[in-house]
Amino acid sequence: MNSRELREKFFDFFKKRGHTIVKSSSLIPDDPSVLLTTAGMQQFKKYYTGELDAMDSFGSQRTVSIQKSFRTSDIEEVGDETHLTFFEMFGNFSFGPVGTDNPEDTGKIGYFKRASIYWAYEFITNILEISENRIYVSVFAGDKEISFDQESYDIWKNEIKIPENRIFKGSRQDNFWGPTGEEGPCGPSTEIYITPSAAEAEAGKGVEIWNIVFNEFYKNKIGIYQKTENLGVDTGMGMERLAVILQGVNNVFETDLFVSIMAKINELTPSADNRIKRILADHLRGAIFLVADGVLPSNKEAGYVLRRLLRRILAYQIVNDIHADLFAESVEIIKNNFGEFYPELNKTKEILNVLEEEKVKFEETIGRGIREIEKYKESGKEISGSEAFYLYETFGLPFELIKELAPSKLTANLNKADFDREFEKHQEISRAGAEKKFGGHGLIFDTGELKAATEEEMKKVIRLHTATHLLQWALRQVLGNEVKQMGSDITSERLRFDFSFGRKITPEEIKQVENLVNEKINLNLPVYFEEMSKEEAEKSGALAFFRQKYPSVVKVYFIGFKASGEIISKELCGGPHVEYTSEIGKFKIIKEESVGMGIRRIKTILSN
Ligand code: SER
Repeated sequence: MNSRELREKFFDFFKKRGHTIVKSSSLIPDDPSVLLTTAGMQQFKKYYTGELDAMDSFGSQRTVSIQKSFRTSDIEEVGDETHLTFFEMFGNFSFGPVGTDNPEDTGKIGYFKRASIYWAYEFITNILEISENRIYVSVFAGDKEISFDQESYDIWKNEIKIPENRIFKGSRQDNFWGPTGEEGPCGPSTEIYITPSAAEAEAGKGVEIWNIVFNEFYKNKIGIYQKTENLGVDTGMGMERLAVILQGVNNVFETDLFVSIMAKINELTPSADNRIKRILADHLRGAIFLVADGVLPSNKEAGYVLRRLLRRILAYQIVNDIHADLFAESVEIIKNNFGEFYPELNKTKEILNVLEEEKVKFEETIGRGIREIEKYKESGKEISGSEAFYLYETFGLPFELIKELAPSKLTANLNKADFDREFEKHQEISRAGAEKKFGGHGLIFDTGELKAATEEEMKKVIRLHTATHLLQWALRQVLGNEVKQMGSDITSERLRFDFSFGRKITPEEIKQVENLVNEKINLNLPVYFEEMSKEEAEKSGALAFFRQKYPSVVKVYFIGFKASGEIISKELCGGPHVEYTSEIGKFKIIKEESVGMGIRRIKTILSN
């Protein structure tokens, strides 16, 4: 089945069931807390909350769309079989209140779990004719805050008759979605997976194809889940993955969504390795869609994402000696492939101008990098791994390009492993990383930010370090955003945290802070970081310690779930941290005092 038929069938199926077809919204969302559009539901946020009435806007409480989406989280993975930056997402949506929830009801009133599950199953098995034996599903298992999704489980088991051993129960990370941004609708999800053949279905070895989210909650800014009366449905199915299955090909780059751009890249770069060809195809397509929606290359936010894509393309082009005008060729191809569905791609001239302009700027930067390389040539000094990393960091010269630009005798001993090691050393934040680097006896353990005398102590210090982030978050929840870090000092025994606040903190408030921190510790939230420009970090609302000077590229540590946007803490920080909050142990505040005008100090300890 080609992708055009797939689009038609999807729209047709849901149109027959009372849904209004709604155009994809722009990749630039109208929600300032989100960088780019990552999901179909984003344009409908106000209908879930009841701020807008879908019946007024669409003549139905049911809509269906194919949404242009862009996710930056997987950018380093692009080049394998499945990861992409830009993709299209099929989705059907319902905005409460709910009517009969009967799949036979093809009217325009909202529906919920039953109709959504029936229809998804029917679409996959009847319309796409995928064998029932190749399907397994997952439902939300429940946790401390939100209960097990018994209703979806029962529908799959008793009505659809999926065998029990093919109904999996998933955690918060996999089976709970949203909100996008700081607050919004969210809820448990049920997912449909497809396996290559029946044998893998019981083993749960398949590709997630459809995510069906039941918006039962509204999560507010301070992280509280409120039950909502406006029950909503938000489903999302990645078009490219579906095309892989229906077209019987091996990966997304072999589907008809990529065939023409891949053919052109193959023709222009026959000798480049496969991974690079795929990166080029993904980045070219993604960049063109971004520019078509009005994103311009810059050093922040969406513009920075675009700049990264374009500079990677240009670097690979130089390394692989591609002299053809890849931009011009691709703009035409993408227009021919997708222009019919996304008319904004038809203004090829404007799009090409933006791309060409960035090329000129990149060449200037590269020019500065080349002059730097000239200095090595003059002195005849070899380029070491750390120097190559410096060239990368300062002039944006990727490793391959450095190898290419410098005379081979200066890079004879420079290998990718050394470069990568420098890269990792630079990132050097994961707990494992810290232990490896500072392991051994008799050393002072010093990660730059944290110090300890032994490895054991270092582990305790790291636990308290993550607790510091939770503490600052909780203080702001309880006392307000006036709270700002003024300093902190961590030993393996205790944490001392100084912050701005104008009065004594009551015992009740202390209890509240303590409870909030322990609650989040018990939820076992993941802790991880991302590197971004300082501006991007600030714009994202990440907390920074104003007394510290930060480099232009910073690490931002997150606590919470990225996939669902359920992040409770965001802070600029060098790490290291624990990987999951439950490693912290029990958190206790032992003292609160004043240490100067408008500055309070809290001392805390941990018990196992
Ligand atoms: N919002 C959910 C997702 O993006 C379902 O559409 O997966």
